[in-house]
Amino acid sequence: MTPIITVSNVSKTYNTGEVETAALTDISFEIKKGEFVAIMGPSGSGKSTLMHILGALDVPTSGNYILDGENVAKLNDDQLAEIRNKKIGFVFQAFNLLPRTSALKNVMLPMMYDATPKEKRLPLAEKYLKMVGLGDRMDHTSSQLSGGQQQRVAIARALVLNPSIILADEPTGNIASSQAEEIMAIFQKLNKEGHTIIMITHEPDIAEHAKRIIHIKDGVIVKDGVEHKQRKAK
Ligand SMILES: Nc1ncnc2c1ncn2[C@@H]1O[C@H](COP(=O)(O)OP(=O)(O)O)[C@@H](O)[C@H]1O
Ligand SMILES: [Mg+2]
Repeated sequence: MTPIITVSNVSKTYNTGEVETAALTDISFEIKKGEFVAIMGPSGSGKSTLMHILGALDVPTSGNYILDGENVAKLNDDQLAEIRNKKIGFVFQAFNLLPRTSALKNVMLPMMYDATPKEKRLPLAEKYLKMVGLGDRMDHTSSQLSGGQQQRVAIARALVLNPSIILADEPTGNIASSQAEEIMAIFQKLNKEGHTIIMITHEPDIAEHAKRIIHIKDGVIVKDGVEHKQRKAK
């Protein structure tokens, strides 16, 4: 199967005045459609930098990044914005929902700027909210929901434009550990249904819910595999 993501010899260097920081050095990997991958590493290892590149929020200093057939590394800002909207469903650590707005409206929002026909927006938002187990909370505002519930709204919002990949940045970083398990169960369910999920985390317990873990340290891949599965088997 053709990979949905091909990262080839990607390096990213930040220049701040005199200082040059190599955040990523010659990183290469592929992700196939339908994978559930965690990218794990300690603070300062380059996770956010890699997430920004994978999410078409930034481009590498050198190397190529092919997302679903398009070389993102060669795109300008407008083209990057278009790729982001079309191909990536973002889930952020801080949820990034509108506060005094219902779950339903939050999930409908991406469709307001999209070609989704008006009459389809409400049924689609309802479908995805039910999918994340919030069928009975659709009219609640974000402030009336727990952290875990807010993150589930954010996941429904990420799904609504049918992205090629779900890209989650520390998705359980702001929620209680009992609710973190629920979020991981949803990701596993979505993955079983065929969604490709890439999750950035510094927490080993969270990374273990993925089928594959790419470990990065000091801007390089130090391990890439599925060795955690043995520990999970009961
Ligand atoms: N905008 C920036 N300007 C300069 N240096 C940066 C910038 N962003 C990150 N860095 C540096 O790049 C390295 C990797 O950072 P980052 O990708 O944020 O790691 P992580 O998310 O794993 O903590 C660190 O040394 C960090 O200080
Ligand atoms: Mg970071």
